[in-house]
Amino acid sequence: MTAATPETVEAVQPAPPHPDGTPDTATQDQVVTPWEVKGAEVDGKLAAIDYNKLVESFGTRLIDEALLERLEKLTGQKPHRFLRRGMFFSHRDLTVLLDRYEQGKPFYLYTGRGPSSGSMHVGHAVPFIFCKWLQDVFQVPLVIQLTDDEKFLFKQELKIADVEKFTRENARDIMAFGFDPEKTFIFSNLEYMNAAFYKNVVKISKTITTSVSKATFGFVDSDNVGKIGFVSVQAAPAFSNTFPQIFGPKGDVPCLIPCAIDQDPYFRLTRDVATKLKYPKPALLHSKFFPALQGPGTKMSASDVNSAIYLHDTPNQIKKKVNTKAFSGGRDNVEEHKKYGGNCDVDVSFQYLRFFLEDDEELGDIRKRYTSGDLLTGHLKQRCIEVVSEMVKEFQERRKAVTDETYKNFMNPDFPRKVSMKPPSATNTKPEVKK
Ligand code: TRP
Repeated sequence: MTAATPETVEAVQPAPPHPDGTPDTATQDQVVTPWEVKGAEVDGKLAAIDYNKLVESFGTRLIDEALLERLEKLTGQKPHRFLRRGMFFSHRDLTVLLDRYEQGKPFYLYTGRGPSSGSMHVGHAVPFIFCKWLQDVFQVPLVIQLTDDEKFLFKQELKIADVEKFTRENARDIMAFGFDPEKTFIFSNLEYMNAAFYKNVVKISKTITTSVSKATFGFVDSDNVGKIGFVSVQAAPAFSNTFPQIFGPKGDVPCLIPCAIDQDPYFRLTRDVATKLKYPKPALLHSKFFPALQGPGTKMSASDVNSAIYLHDTPNQIKKKVNTKAFSGGRDNVEEHKKYGGNCDVDVSFQYLRFFLEDDEELGDIRKRYTSGDLLTGHLKQRCIEVVSEMVKEFQERRKAVTDETYKNFMNPDFPRKVSMKPPSATNTKPEVKK
């Protein structure tokens, strides 16, 4: 097998179960692939995802206090609640990127979304909320890839017209997260694929063998060839000359990719490819999954209406879903709850508050009181309903303000974009970034 970097070694570890979802009855271990996320099965019950185990098996680094302190010092900003609370918990080479930033050298952000349905749910908001914050504190460009091609290739039932429609709908939702239109480019693979992009796709394809793609993603010979090669399309935006109109033709600007940890296999390969093509390796920031209403053993899924709160739900729908479906860490009855207390770590309403309630003090107080049994499940759910509804309401207001004009500008490759970067507060030098 191909040589040398530790990441290549990880990339050829045993194959995950087949992406078709063919059940893997032999093992009860947790499964985390771009297609399936499931906690370990213990006595027929799904356990919560073990993230330390993932860090170990994927070979990533945990984000520790020292790194958070460094971020705070560099940006002059208190770390986002997703960082303070370990929602974004793991990274690759963030320190290398920060070293560069300290020297006033530019970088950009790259994230994406697979438009598999027209409705995005509150969990989908997480990477976009976080990218908006990163863009604000670092003042850097952001590219957002909509992988309509991926969804077409991977979901047998979807037609091109379906994924194009989902792309248009998802793109408008994404635009409502408040990105700076002068620093943000949102593109659909099916629509945007141009010469610069395609050149990188074929360069990348030439460096990845079929066996590496199969071993990394668990493909089998009956999978269509598009799936086996798709990694090249998701990897390309990590190299800056895929967007010469923004970063110039050299491909020398590194990027930081915030993503859920299930996307790591794509970028593990991308980092190997970078070495081979002499591009800078992308840095990564990994998030945990947003739990389904049913419990922390699986992630929220847009195609399962019982698992999801959608960004377009009404306050009443949210209330009903949390009250009737959100898995509770409380006891069977009030008496026992008061006596023994509840379990915040499995309680879905509490988990949602961790994502969306900004106030650390209130969150700490809720944890203390729920754990002691002083706070009852009904009250915890009530607070969750308020906080999630408020977040969704604010989203819907911004979504209403997205016009055809907004859409055109974000998706226009030639819309003038400012590739500047806020000087790191520590050094206070103004970086010179050429267009
Ligand atoms: N494959 C991702 C999905 O299905 C979409 C995606 C493309 C992405 N590029 C990305 C996600 C970069 C995070 C970062 O959702």
